[in-house]
Amino acid sequence: MADPHAKMTQATPQEVIISILAGLLAPLLAIFLVVQLVLSIQHRHQPDVSSEAAQKAALARIKPFGQLVALDANAPRVEKSGQEVYEAVCIACHGSGALGAPKLENKGDWGGRLGQGYDTLVKHAIEGIRMMPPRGGDGDLSDVEVARAVTYMANSAGASFKTPEAAAPAAPAAEDAKQ
Ligand code: HEC
Repeated sequence: MADPHAKMTQATPQEVIISILAGLLAPLLAIFLVVQLVLSIQHRHQPDVSSEAAQKAALARIKPFGQLVALDANAPRVEKSGQEVYEAVCIACHGSGALGAPKLENKGDWGGRLGQGYDTLVKHAIEGIRMMPPRGGDGDLSDVEVARAVTYMANSAGASFKTPEAAAPAAPAAEDAKQ
């Protein structure tokens, strides 16, 4: 009871081998061609790393986020204003009255002190007095900056001191004392 259809679908061993090879080869050939295509496209897009523009672009891409700026220690220093110094340093105590510091804009706190005069107040601010640390604890402040901060605070409490301009006469003496 042989089925004629079965006979027709029956493949010879050669046919089996050929069909297996063909089935493997076709996709392999396709993959090979695709890879060749990609490689050739890639090759055409290869960046010209030797050109100056390309190197600049590469450097720009790998530029670090932070940049170090060389500061010239001898460059003229920009003196802060009295308010800037106050807000950076003095406010720690003179804002709240900590340790008994005379508060900004408090005439009662400053009243008696203003009577000592501008020079004495500045001297006390630079050298320190009792709980008041020299230069408010910031040794980097110049005499002028301290004096400006004193003026800022004193004037806020009713004094009318003139804000000192750059380079106080006392500055060179202070420099000598440091050495
Ligand atoms: C750590 C706290 C603190 C900081 C910071 C501080 N002061 Fe004072 N300051 C005081 C205290 C406390 C007094 C009161 C001292 C006393 O008379 O016993 C005072 C007093 C003063 C006086 C009055 C001195 C006098 O003869 O009556 C001046 C002026 C002054 N400070 C300026 C400054 C300036 C300018 C700064 C910022 C550069 C500053 N202080 C930062 C605590 C501080």
